[in-house]
Amino acid sequence: MELDQSTALITGGASGLGAATARHLHGLGASVVVFDRDAAKGEQIVSELGETARTKAVFVAGDVLSTDDTERAIAAATELGGLRVVVACAGGARGVQRTLGRDDQPHDLDLFADTIQLNLVGSFNTARLAAAAMAAQEPRDDGERGVIVFVASIAGYEGQIGQVAYGSAKAGIIGMTLIAARDLASRGIRVNAIAPGTIRTEAWDLAPAEMLESFESKVPFPRRLGDPSEFAALVEHLVTNRYLNGHVVRLDGAIRFDPR
Ligand SMILES: NC(=O)c1ccc[n+]([C@@H]2O[C@H](COP(=O)([O-])OP(=O)(O)OC[C@H]3O[C@@H](n4cnc5c(N)ncnc54)[C@H](O)[C@@H]3O)[C@@H](O)[C@H]2O)c1
Repeated sequence: MELDQSTALITGGASGLGAATARHLHGLGASVVVFDRDAAKGEQIVSELGETARTKAVFVAGDVLSTDDTERAIAAATELGGLRVVVACAGGARGVQRTLGRDDQPHDLDLFADTIQLNLVGSFNTARLAAAAMAAQEPRDDGERGVIVFVASIAGYEGQIGQVAYGSAKAGIIGMTLIAARDLASRGIRVNAIAPGTIRTEAWDLAPAEMLESFESKVPFPRRLGDPSEFAALVEHLVTNRYLNGHVVRLDGAIRFDPR
């Protein structure tokens, strides 16, 4: 899929990996729709990107768990010339709890269900509605109508103690990627996912310095946290390489999470 003159919808595009992706794809000539529940940061990103003769940047405020909100974001992309790329970044951990706490208290069920809702159900809601809009468009070269990129996590492969909710949600995204790619193959829509390790975004702003240093020290090479621009560069590759489909790529400097 060519990015130049395409429109990309980025959920969670107001911050971190999503904002870096919006900047990168816009820089490559794509118009972007930033869809996020944080209106202040979303408006800021699109005003920073601005409008050129060839590209636009539009912000839509809303929640990926709302079908109405997501359809508004998709309609905004359709108005910009058709939805060709979706990057589903909205998500994150809601808290850390063990299946059974040190005090023998069972894991809070609402925390588990909310984490699955935000990460797995939210990503699926985005994908199913975006696929309907993409399928209605004319195919481009190779019969391609669109590309969806999910965001998992290496916690979906080797979640640490306390990550049972987040790790399960991200494992669901890893599992969904190949199935969605198969489901959407007949419409010319590819589906890939990125499983990041530890990437330095705003999500880590409140983490203690010692925790970040400990993550850094465990990354074999390069011995540092990832940069959001490295994530955005991988999105570009997953979108533009037409033979990549149904694939989950780890982006982690070869780290493998320890149990704790
Ligand atoms: N940063 C990392 O180290 C890392 C590692 C692995 C996976 N991830 C995943 O990457 C994605 C982005 O993470 P990030 O580090 O950029 O986080 P971030 O907190 O900087 O950005 C997440 C954005 O998603 C938005 N959002 C959250 N819930 C939403 C909802 N229901 N509807 C609409 N928007 C919503 C937030 O407002 C925020 O702007 C998440 O899915 C996260 O789980 C991040």
